[in-house]
Amino acid sequence: MASDGQMDVDFSPPLDKGKGKSKAVEGREPHEVDNLPWVEKYRPVTLDDVVSHKDITTTIVKFIEKNRLPHLLFYGPPGTGKTSTILAVARRIYGAEYKKQILELNASDDRGIDVVREQIKQFAETRTLFSKGFKLIILDEADMMTQQAQAALRRVIEQYTKNVRFCIICNYVNKIAPAIQSRCTRFRFSPLPIAEVEKRVNSVVEAEKVNLTQDGKKALLKLSKGDMRRALNVLQACHAAYSSIGETEIYNCTGNPHPSDIETIVNSMLADEFTTSYQMISAMKTERGLALQDLISGTYEYVETIDFKPQARVYLLDFLATTEHRLSTGGGEKMQLSALLGAFKNAVELSTK
Ligand SMILES: Nc1ncnc2c1ncn2[C@@H]1O[C@H](COP(=O)(O)OP(=O)(O)O)[C@@H](O)[C@H]1O
Ligand SMILES: [Mg+2]
Repeated sequence: MASDGQMDVDFSPPLDKGKGKSKAVEGREPHEVDNLPWVEKYRPVTLDDVVSHKDITTTIVKFIEKNRLPHLLFYGPPGTGKTSTILAVARRIYGAEYKKQILELNASDDRGIDVVREQIKQFAETRTLFSKGFKLIILDEADMMTQQAQAALRRVIEQYTKNVRFCIICNYVNKIAPAIQSRCTRFRFSPLPIAEVEKRVNSVVEAEKVNLTQDGKKALLKLSKGDMRRALNVLQACHAAYSSIGETEIYNCTGNPHPSDIETIVNSMLADEFTTSYQMISAMKTERGLALQDLISGTYEYVETIDFKPQARVYLLDFLATTEHRLSTGGGEKMQLSALLGAFKNAVELSTK
């Protein structure tokens, strides 16, 4: 749609339109593609499209070439390419028809002990006609599986190693039973370097004609923290809501407090009288819809830049950590906010000693 509000309807056949992105959207109708979230639309197709984890992808390619793929265990924070990598592996092994050769289970599926036994067994036992080699079972978000299910899985892995390879994907590797870990080759997916996220964001910005300012991009990359999914999702949400995306729009979209708000809040906690400060912050929280949790993360970064004596800084950092923990275990925001204010007053006093 044109930005002046007029409807711009294009009746010409979408001949060349999708050419640049045709790789990412193979085999789908154009209208289907437009409805896709950008994380799906721009999901890497081949292993070469997976950025940053070159050591991992080259190792896996070698395994495939020698026809010696082991069971795989991918772990690391969200949005770093774990699912994309295994799907690209499947496409590389089986070609375009890869969906028939893989079984994909994730946390939304029921994964008690019965599912592991039945569904996996069934898939592992049926041999597709003319299939060569092994099939692939992908267990996404496997750290959500119960201990019993993992124990059952261990048996299944052993039993079907002949014609099935497993790829187990999780965020926290320590939640996977050691017995399963030792049967897999482990790959750690680290958070993506900002430069890599930036490159990808740039190409999406170009393809979707997003109006993103330099400040906006900086804020987006900072908030993404190496999570490509988050970067793309925030970008898409902002693009839908605003015609031009700057720093403020990014912070508004994510519900994160704007750095200037944090500055105002911290300065008030340091300098103003208790009640004044409390009322100001409460009002700001309501007006902007900020969560105390996000205020604490922002404050934590800002405190680094304040010139405190070491004892005051240590005290404050410790208190921020404690408050974050209390909030996560159900502490109320009002009480935690006043406690935090009190801590700032103490820190100021410590700093003058
Ligand atoms: N290493 C990467 N290279 C290219 N795109 C990536 C990478 N990691 C994540 N993405 C993007 O983020 C989205 C989510 O990635 P995904 O592989 O599902 O992450 P994970 O499974 O690690 O949470 C993908 O659709 C893709 O657009
Ligand atoms: Mg995933």
